[in-house]
Parts: sequence; C-alpha cells; structure tokens
Amino acid sequence: MLAPLLLLAASLAAGTPFDPREATIGSVHHALHFGRSTCREVVSSFIVRVEALNNNTNAVLTLNPRALEIADELDQALLSGNATGSLFCVPVLVKDNYDTFDMKTTGGSLAFRDSQPSTDAPSVAALRREGAVILGKANLHEIALEGISVSSFGGQTINPYDSTRTPGGSSGGSGASVASSFCVFALGSDTVNSLRSPASANSIFSVRPTRGLISRSGVIPLSYTQDTVGPMARSVEDLAIALSVMASVGYDPSDNTTALSPPGFQETNFASGLSLGTLQGKRLGLLEPFFNRTASDETTPVNEAMNAAIGRLEAAGATIVPIRESVYNPTTIAAELDTQRFEYRELLNAYLSRPELGGRHPRDFAEFYTTKAEGGKGEFLVMPSGYEYVRNSSVSSTGNATYASVQQGVANLTLTLASTFATHSLDAIIYPEQRNLVVKIGSPSQSGRNGILAALTGHPVVTVPAGFSPSTADAPRGVPIGMEILGPKWSEKELLAIAHAYDKVGATRRSPEWADRHVESQDLTQVPVIVPDRANIPAVYPIGVL
Ligand SMILES: *[C@@H]1O[C@H](CO)[C@@H](O)[C@H](O)[C@H]1NC(C)=O
Ligand SMILES: *[C@@H]1O[C@H](CO)[C@@H](O)[C@H](O)[C@H]1NC(C)=O
Ligand SMILES: *[C@@H]1O[C@H](CO)[C@@H](O)[C@H](O)[C@H]1NC(C)=O
Ligand SMILES: *[C@@H]1O[C@H](CO)[C@@H](O)[C@H](O)[C@H]1NC(C)=O
Ligand SMILES: *[C@@H]1O[C@H](CO)[C@@H](O)[C@H](O)[C@H]1NC(C)=O
Ligand SMILES: *[C@@H]1O[C@H](CO)[C@@H](O)[C@H](O)[C@H]1NC(C)=O
Ligand SMILES: *[C@@H]1O[C@H](CO)[C@@H](O)[C@H](O)[C@H]1NC(C)=O
Repeated sequence: MLAPLLLLAASLAAGTPFDPREATIGSVHHALHFGRSTCREVVSSFIVRVEALNNNTNAVLTLNPRALEIADELDQALLSGNATGSLFCVPVLVKDNYDTFDMKTTGGSLAFRDSQPSTDAPSVAALRREGAVILGKANLHEIALEGISVSSFGGQTINPYDSTRTPGGSSGGSGASVASSFCVFALGSDTVNSLRSPASANSIFSVRPTRGLISRSGVIPLSYTQDTVGPMARSVEDLAIALSVMASVGYDPSDNTTALSPPGFQETNFASGLSLGTLQGKRLGLLEPFFNRTASDETTPVNEAMNAAIGRLEAAGATIVPIRESVYNPTTIAAELDTQRFEYRELLNAYLSRPELGGRHPRDFAEFYTTKAEGGKGEFLVMPSGYEYVRNSSVSSTGNATYASVQQGVANLTLTLASTFATHSLDAIIYPEQRNLVVKIGSPSQSGRNGILAALTGHPVVTVPAGFSPSTADAPRGVPIGMEILGPKWSEKELLAIAHAYDKVGATRRSPEWADRHVESQDLTQVPVIVPDRANIPAVYPIGVL
C-alpha cells in the first residue's frame, strides 16, 4: 500500500531513469515513493526494453496501446494523494489466453487473432483494481495445448538462457518475459504443467493454486477438473502479493469451484509473515518415481541440481522422507486419468458462445478445427504428436461412461496422496518439475514433466529455481532447473513460507546473460507495435488441419 506522502514525492520526481532489470513490486514502489521516477517512466522503461530485446526470445505478442495513458492516470492519482493499491503502477504481462477488454485474446492462434472480449477475466480485473498496469499479452503454446510454447499467431518462443531450447510451457511467453525483466510479474495458466514448466525453465517462481482458490472465468479453458490460473515472478514476495490479489476475486458464480474455498481463505494476505517461514523441523517427502535416474546429458544435471537443493534444505533443518510408492508413476497417471479429452470440447464451446466475446473468432470447437485460411490451410498449429486428445475430444464428452471411471480414479489418487501426507506427517512433497532439461526447439513434445499429480488432485504447488545445468556455448549460464513443492490443499501460505526460507538459503535465481544489457530510456510518445516472429515456427509443426 502506498502512503499519501507520495503527493510530495511525486511532485519532486527528478526523472531518474528507472532500471527495470530484476525490478520488484517493492523497487517500483520505492522509486515512486521517493520521487525517483514517475509511473510513466517506470512503464516506459519496460516498454523500451521489450521493444529492444523481444527478438531474443519472442515472448511478447502485444503491447497495450493504452499503457502510457494508464500510467499518466496513475501519475495523476499520485499527485492527488490517491495512490492506493498493492500493485500500484506495477507492469504485468498476461498470458494471451486471459480475456482483456482492451486487447485481443488470441490464445496464440491465427483463428482467434480478431477475438475481442468486452470484459476482463475477473482475475485480470482484480489486478487493475489494485493499480496494476497491464503492459501487454505474452505468447503461449497455442491454446495452451502443449509445452513447447509455439503458436500459429506468435511463432516460437525461445528460452532466454539457451536459444536452442524451448522455454517450457504452455505459459512460455510469460516465463521468458519474467526471466528477461520485460515485466515485474506475469500471469499464466496450468492444466497439467503450464505454470510450473516455464517457471522451471526460466529460473523463476510460480504458484499453481489449490483448485477453487482463483476463478478461472474468462480464460480459454481446457479442463474443468485440471485448469488453474496463477502468477509467475522473480521473487517469492511478489508471487505472494500477486496471489493475494488474484484470490481476492473470491466466490465467482461463473466458476463454481470457487465455492470450495474455506470461509475467509480467499481474503488471505499471502505476503504477511512470509519472512517468519523456516525449514527447521519441516518434513518434506521426496518423490523418488518422479526422477529419471538413467544418466545422460539431459537428466544428470537435473539430478545433481536436486541433490544440491536437498542438501541446502537439510542444512537448514528440514528432514527429507523418501517416498517410493509405485502408484506415483507420472506417465501412467497421465495416460489413465487426464480428463482433458472429455472436457475440452464442451468448455471451449461454452467460452466461445458467451455474449462477452466479440470480434471474429470460431463459433465453436468444430468450426475451429475445420477452419480454412487462404491457401487451404487450417488456422492453427498441428503438432506431430501430443494432440491425440484434441482429436479424441471431438468425439468424447463428460457423458462417456469412461469419464465417470476416470473421475473415480482421480478421487482415488487424491485420497492416496492425502494418505501419503498423513502416514509420513509431511509438510510438503518435493520433486523436479521435469526429469530432464527443458527440450530443444523442434522436439515433438515437452517430455519428462511431473505436473500431472497436482493437476488431477487439485493440490497447490510452489515452483522454485533449483539450479542450472553446466555452462555451455549455447547456455552460457546453464539451463535452469526447477523444483516443485507440493502441499496439502489450502496450504499456499505455508508453501510460500517454505519457498521463502528455501530461497534465503538457496538464492539460485540468475538472469539470462543478454538480459543484463541496459536499454537506454526514452521519452515515448506512443506505445510501439510488437511484431512477433511467426517465420520462426519449426517446419515440424505445420499450420494446417488435424
Ligand atoms: C536482436 O536485436 C539486437 C539489436 O538489433 C541484436 O543485437 C541482436 O543480435 C538481435 N537478437 C537476435 C536473437 O536476433
Ligand atoms: C481516488 O480514487 C478513487 C478510485 O479510483 C476515486 O473513486 C476517488 O474519487 C479518488 N479520490 C480523489 C480525491 O481523487
Ligand atoms: C459447476 O459448473 C460446471 C461448469 O459450468 C457445470 O457443468 C456443473 O454442473 C456445475 N456443478 C454444480 C454442482 O453446479
Ligand atoms: C530417462 O532418460 C533417458 C536418458 O535421457 C531417456 O532415454 C528415457 O527415455 C527417460 N525415461 C523416461 C521415462 O522419461
Ligand atoms: C481416445 O482415447 C481412447 C482412450 O484413451 C483411445 O483408446 C482412443 O484411441 C482415442 N480415440 C481417438 C479418436 O483418438
Ligand atoms: C466416448 O464415446 C464416444 C462415442 O461412443 C467414443 O467414440 C469415444 O472413443 C469415447 N471416448 C473415450 C475417451 O472413451
Ligand atoms: C486406488 O488406489 C490404490 C493405490 O493407491 C489401488 O491399490 C486401488 O486399486 C485403487 N482403486 C481404484 C478403485 O482405482
């Protein structure tokens, strides 16, 4: 919360250029509070940075043409002593599957390039109420259907640490943007891995909230059972502040899972008392089946980074409890219990038929997957593999008899997980987000990820940087490796405290090498138009029909 003495501070603003590199909510507020910068200067500093450096990662799809106008309004509020809001003047990038009233919501698909919501997703509206500046939209894996972060509208997003690799996904543009200091924090969504894989691959933090904590309305859906939305940030504090604002949407009748939240929990200030968190006496289950112990250049760095992280946790007083139950096989669980193939079509049809969705867009699932552009090609990306369940969802629905048995399996897995927590008196369970390094550009799928356990059971996860692979010519600072910390339902506060305590002893985040570059500040008269590099789509992912 900003104090009214900003009135004085803002009038004294000396116009010192704001440095967006590794900026935090606190550093933005500090600059405004002490009159070092105006909001316009803060916002401009991020815009010129994106304009100059987006070509290194192709992470940003669109800049908000109103961003400077909004900043000027906030400067007015500052001058009139009315600068309130926990996100006052904080520049945020939003994954382009969230509805925004002032920008298109493309899902990364050419077929949705003119799709224009008339209202914000409730989670985006909550950020704006707290003073956030929605700087623009981030690239994603098209419609969030895979983890490569390539899309027919936005092209291939490139890992900022290694230009031969993907940034994880599907929230890859959000992850790469946060890593590159294109914003203070970003929003992502997660159906199986999508808030966690890009956090892992970009040396940042994310939280996948307990199912029901945050309304998913106004976000292009895939799965009623598995979808969640949440923030991605460079610090645990910023993550906690952003989570508090998103959760404050509270009960939303248009997403009935929000009724599952315990009374008052959605009003939690997740940032308060963070620094009191400790690892002393914490019992952390280590999920052995979520590792690949076959030595290779792609797996050994993950296992070594995890060993080092575990060593730091133990040194700080945590007890590691090995969990070896074979039921926790991520490949089997995903093959048997993933619900997307039953839920996707019905949900997409519901999203597309809302009166709030204006502009040109496919009328329904069937039209989307048969749309032909000029030249006879479909207007979406075709993956060589991984889209099997899209084909499947055109014939399957929640009415299938197998859907009921899958849901029984999910309930059983959820009880199994609760039993594991109870049997071993665990505070959390840890494992690498991905059993191998994030895959190379052109790979058929983002293999080796472990997100399915939280996705199906609805448990919360905070993902933290665990370390890096050794430095190479392609990856001068190494490829980032991330660790998931999974807790009981509604344990976000405790998980964030564990992550904060871990970060104090670990402090493993590093920025990408090129992102150290300083970009000269400029007096902008208008927001430049970003043109994503669609020509960089690898030939193995044609745009066409399924
Ligand atoms: C991006 O643009 C800058 C400045 O024009 C240039 O130095 C850099 O090599 C470009 N990066 C890539 C990956 O093309
Ligand atoms: C302060 O901001 C609030 C919300 O934007 C507005 O309703 C109110 O009129 C403003 N007050 C002043 C004194 O400008
Ligand atoms: C919750 O919402 C879903 C999707 O809108 C709907 O299919 C379902 O019937 C609702 N459940 C209840 C119990 O109201
Ligand atoms: C484990 O890693 C090896 C070596 O990289 C790889 O060949 C194998 O497919 C991986 N196994 C699984 C289950 O991911
Ligand atoms: C749909 O999924 C089922 C069960 O996983 C599988 O047997 C079937 O081949 C799939 N059908 C299509 C059309 O992909
Ligand atoms: C659902 O039912 C349809 C129609 O009987 C069938 O074609 C489809 O394969 C079923 N899907 C699954 C995943 O079992
Ligand atoms: C439930 O899970 C347990 C393993 O945790 C397994 O032994 C049992 O067969 C499962 N039951 C059903 C109905 O899937």
